[in-house]
Amino acid sequence: MKNTVLTFQKAKAEGRKITMLTAYDYTTAKLVDEAGIDSILVGDSLGNTMLGYEDTLSVTMEDMIHHGAAVARGAKNALVVIDMPFMSYQVSVEEAVRNAGRLMKEGRAGAVKLEGGESVCPQIKAIVDAGIPVVAHLGLTPQSINAFGGFRVQGKTEAAAKKLIEDAHKVQEAGAFALTLEAVPSKLATLITKQLAIPTIGIGAGNGCDGQVLVNQDMLGTFSDFTPKFVKRYANVGEIMKEAYKAYIADVQSGAFPAAENEYTVDDSVLEKLY
Ligand code: KIV
Repeated sequence: MKNTVLTFQKAKAEGRKITMLTAYDYTTAKLVDEAGIDSILVGDSLGNTMLGYEDTLSVTMEDMIHHGAAVARGAKNALVVIDMPFMSYQVSVEEAVRNAGRLMKEGRAGAVKLEGGESVCPQIKAIVDAGIPVVAHLGLTPQSINAFGGFRVQGKTEAAAKKLIEDAHKVQEAGAFALTLEAVPSKLATLITKQLAIPTIGIGAGNGCDGQVLVNQDMLGTFSDFTPKFVKRYANVGEIMKEAYKAYIADVQSGAFPAAENEYTVDDSVLEKLY
């Protein structure tokens, strides 16, 4: 059955942990969906993992729609959440609603996610009023990397922790149906989770959140540019891929591939007429 915002609400009410992974293409989305994930995030982390940028700032609406639509085609049951890229919602409420609408119409999202607290609440409210479910994102919000001065844990001081709690309540009031908490001390994330009616989805925010999200490439070990402390690697698929590529190269070079079973045949009587 297709998961929706109601699946998230019900999971929080029942104390069942929500599972989310990123995916950026049809094949991966299908595998993740078949494994039984609740939700797939088409994160703007695709800027790093798929496009090789140093950060997420260069990601465009077209990138998100292109990858989002591919994921939506592969996800039968998972709720597909597509990230709103940098500068697609910050400039004005009107632009935010228009761009969220594009992610729904062209990207076939089930919901959109955007980064920020109080300052983006008018955008959250207007997008929700347009009938589009919103996931908020607080803590380490990678689109603000230059303002933070690097990838740093957030909410470590009393003032920062208070602001984070305040923002969490504000995005809930604005209508977000879930909140991503990234790189936040576990005890603070647990406190926020207990205070909110909407579920929290943690990444580097400990076990007290209502659910967890990881970047697909991080958990599979296919992306090695940098690996945050909060990542758990579930397989070393990168090494398996490299071994397979090496075996293919060796087979082609030695002539072992293609073998007879990989070839198409034609009747000798046809061939004879060609000489
Ligand atoms: O872009 C992304 O993948 C994200 C997750 C890290 C939550 O926003």
